[in-house]
Amino acid sequence: MKNVIAIDGPAASGKSTLALRLAKDFDFLFFDTGVMYRAVTLAALNAGVAIDDEDACVALAQSAVIEVQPPSEDDGRTSDVIVNGEDQTWAIRRPDVEGNVSVISTYAGVREALTEQQRRIGSRGDIVMVGRDIGTVVMPDADLKIYLDASVEERALRRYLEEKCRGDDAEYEVILEAMRKRDQIDSTREVAPLIAAEDAIVVDSDNKDANEIFEEVKELIIKHLELDQKQS
Ligand code: DC
Repeated sequence: MKNVIAIDGPAASGKSTLALRLAKDFDFLFFDTGVMYRAVTLAALNAGVAIDDEDACVALAQSAVIEVQPPSEDDGRTSDVIVNGEDQTWAIRRPDVEGNVSVISTYAGVREALTEQQRRIGSRGDIVMVGRDIGTVVMPDADLKIYLDASVEERALRRYLEEKCRGDDAEYEVILEAMRKRDQIDSTREVAPLIAAEDAIVVDSDNKDANEIFEEVKELIIKHLELDQKQS
């Protein structure tokens, strides 16, 4: 049995928080695939590559060595992200990365390079994978697919509070607008757009706290794992 749990959904829907807790609870690996698109974006910015130079960005995605490992430091990180040998865990959260990552992730060649690596990691099993296309493209045979949704206003509010907590100078209206733009790019791109897989269970996180969602999805996992055990 492989035990692959796919969690997809729009930005700031609470996917990572949920997945991290589930991974701890079931002793599975937590893998947030978004960090890989962020890593390529950072590599492009650092190398002075223009974000609209698709070929150069694809070449970077193919050559960059991106390692995602369990956290080595207790500073709030959920994993270590090492890009070409350097710890870039916090750098990939920078606003300039945030502002350009959606464009990078529309490039088919970038997606191909990263999807292949994600699949290799996912196929080890006992894993909770988070992204936009895990259930549809990366791991279409996942044992359980969750699509975690929430309204754009609620998600912008969460991101605003997160940034305020970190001491950043955040403005709700600016975040809301940026999030709308990102949703638009993520869900209308030609390759692997953000969409719930046909066999995904859609969980709406509006008006629910993190605990309720965790319990709801945990139940689903237990049910699905029991199902598998009965079948095998
Ligand atoms: O989840 P996140 O905000 O870290 O994702 C960053 C960007 O990467 C986001 O614009 C969508 C993209 N992404 C993707 O296209 N496919 C994935 N599997 C994960 C993220």
